[in-house]
Amino acid sequence: MTAKAIQIAPSILAADFTKLGEEVRAVTAGGADVIHIDVMDGHFVPNLTFGTLIVEAVRRTTHLPLDVHLMIEQPERYIEAFAEAGATMINVHVETCPHLHRTLQHIRAAGAKTGVALNPHTPFELIREVLPEVDRVLVMTVNPGFGGQRLIPATLNKVRRIREAITALGQPIELGVDGGIDLSTIAEVAHSGADVFVAGSAIFGAAEGIPAAMSALRAAAMPSHPAG
Ligand code: DX5
Ligand code: ZN
Repeated sequence: MTAKAIQIAPSILAADFTKLGEEVRAVTAGGADVIHIDVMDGHFVPNLTFGTLIVEAVRRTTHLPLDVHLMIEQPERYIEAFAEAGATMINVHVETCPHLHRTLQHIRAAGAKTGVALNPHTPFELIREVLPEVDRVLVMTVNPGFGGQRLIPATLNKVRRIREAITALGQPIELGVDGGIDLSTIAEVAHSGADVFVAGSAIFGAAEGIPAAMSALRAAAMPSHPAG
């Protein structure tokens, strides 16, 4: 079994938007592996956030990969726009993609990596047949739409089963988790098989500051290899 590299992906949903550039530079300097950008349309999820202009602005602010999480209906309408804005990876929700295989090809053709997100109730089986086309599976560990929610423990069974399937397939597919990731949950989530940890409030809202919060999360996710 190959050693998993842990990735910490700060979600700018929890950043202070009056100083977004500073916040992105702080997580970049603090050791983030990727910047997570939550795009919401008020239809697929009951909240509205931001679109390609913010992706472009973040692209100008960091050298890190940009991980765009599309919580929008008909995401195929915006794939080129987000790829051109600077998205390194585009995550679509399986619940919004009746032609998921086609959508994944579309993302690849636009020059981005492919991610597929699953809501807490959505079974892994819905994406099993397209797993070879996926660069990252993103398991929602909360119901998408808002930061600062509590992790739903039952979602970790799905993380375990997806890790088994990825191992059996033998492709370097990332397994991400998104929602309610903090110091009290990350160790168990890592133990379940996740290797990409999206965290918003636990990083941008941390009293101890951004670098310390990210180091602590990384250490807790990989207890045998403390950060440093
Ligand atoms: C939720 C978003 C998450 C969110 C996570 O719909 O997809 O990325 O920012 O926020 P926390 O880490 O605060 O749960
Ligand atoms: Zn997200």
